[in-house]
Amino acid sequence: MNTDARKLFQPTRIGDIAVANRVVMAPLTRSRADEAHGDIPGSAINVEYYRQRSNAGLIISEGTQVSPVGKGYMATPGIYSDEQVEGWKHITQAVHEAGSKIVAQIWHVGRVTHPALTGGAQPVAPSAIAPRVQAYTHQGKVDAPVPHALSHVEIAQIVAEYRQGAVNAIRAGFDGVEIHGANGYLIDQFLRDGANQRTDAYGGTVENRSRFALEVVDAVIAEIGAGRVGIRLSPVTPANDLSDSNPQAVFGHLVQELDKRGIAFIHFIEGATGGPRDVPGFDFAWARAHFHGTYIANNGYTREMALEAVESGRADAVAFGRLFIANPDLVIRLQRGAPLNTPNPQTFYTPGPAGYIDYPSLEDARDQAVAVA
Ligand code: PHB
Repeated sequence: MNTDARKLFQPTRIGDIAVANRVVMAPLTRSRADEAHGDIPGSAINVEYYRQRSNAGLIISEGTQVSPVGKGYMATPGIYSDEQVEGWKHITQAVHEAGSKIVAQIWHVGRVTHPALTGGAQPVAPSAIAPRVQAYTHQGKVDAPVPHALSHVEIAQIVAEYRQGAVNAIRAGFDGVEIHGANGYLIDQFLRDGANQRTDAYGGTVENRSRFALEVVDAVIAEIGAGRVGIRLSPVTPANDLSDSNPQAVFGHLVQELDKRGIAFIHFIEGATGGPRDVPGFDFAWARAHFHGTYIANNGYTREMALEAVESGRADAVAFGRLFIANPDLVIRLQRGAPLNTPNPQTFYTPGPAGYIDYPSLEDARDQAVAVA
C-alpha cells in the first residue's frame, strides 16, 4: 500500500495504463543492444537495468528504431524483426514482474544519421537539407550527409513501419507506445520549417507540416487503440539543428488534433533538451489547458519542481532522464528526500555494465555500511 499522500506518489491512469505513481522514466539511449546480431535488446544487463528502475510508475523505453534506416546511433535496439520482439519480451516481463508498466518509444531519426549506421542507406528527410550535426559511428564522428527527400510512396512506407512497430510493441508485451516526435528526428523534421521546405501536401502550412505526424498517430491508434498511444514533443528545442519560425502555430495545431484523437499522453520537453527551460516560442500552460489526456512534463526537473508541478496540477506526471540513469531507486529517493547519485556522462553510451547497472540503490548503500561495520 502506498500511504504517501503527495500526489506525485499516488496511483493514476495514463490512458488505458494504470500506474502506481506519477514518476516516469524518460526514454534514454544507452547503446547496449546486441548490434552484431541485428540490434537486439534483452541481454541480461538490459533486463537488469530496466528491472532496477521498475519503481517508476511508467517506464518509457529507450528509443527503438522502426527500421534499419531509422537508426542514428551505435547499438540502439530495433523493433522491426522477430528476434528484436523476442528480446524485448525479456525486458517487458521483468518490468511487469517488478510491478511497473512500460511503453516502447518508437523512433525514426530521419536525417540525423549516416550510412555507416543505416547499413549503407542514405538518410531520409522531408527535404534534402543536411543537419549541421555529427553522427557517432564506429569510425568516429562524421558529418551527417544531405538526406534523400522522401516521395509520397516512401512516406507511406515509413508510416507503415511505425504501424508495424506498434504492433510489434504489443506483441513484445509493452503496455503501449510513445511515438518519438521530438528532438529533431523524422517526425519533428516534418513539423518544423527549419527542415521541411516541401511545397506539397506535407509542407508549408501548419496543417501540411502536421500531416506526417498525424498519419503516424492515426496508423498506430488503428492498431493498438488511442488509450495506449502517447507522443513526445519538444516544440522549442534546438536539438539536432532544428528550428521553426513559429512553434506556437504548428505545435498548437498539432496539440488540438491530438486532443481530438483522445491519445493517452503528450510528453513535453519544456525548453532545450537537457538544457535551459526558459526558451521562448511555445506556451506549455496553453497546451496543458487544451489537451485533456495526461500531460507528462520533462526537462531539468528537481524533486521540488516535480512535487510542485503535480500538486498544483500544472502537470499530471513528471519524467526524469539523467536522474534515472544514476538512481535506480529514484522514486524511493524522491519520497524520502534522500541524496541522489550523480550521473556519469562518460558511461552513458559505452558497452557493458559499468555506469549501467552498477549505480547503487539506497539498499545497496545500507548493505555496504553493514558489511563495513
Ligand atoms: C542521444 O542519444 O543523445 C539522444 C537520443 C534520442 C533523443 C535525444 C538524445 O531523443
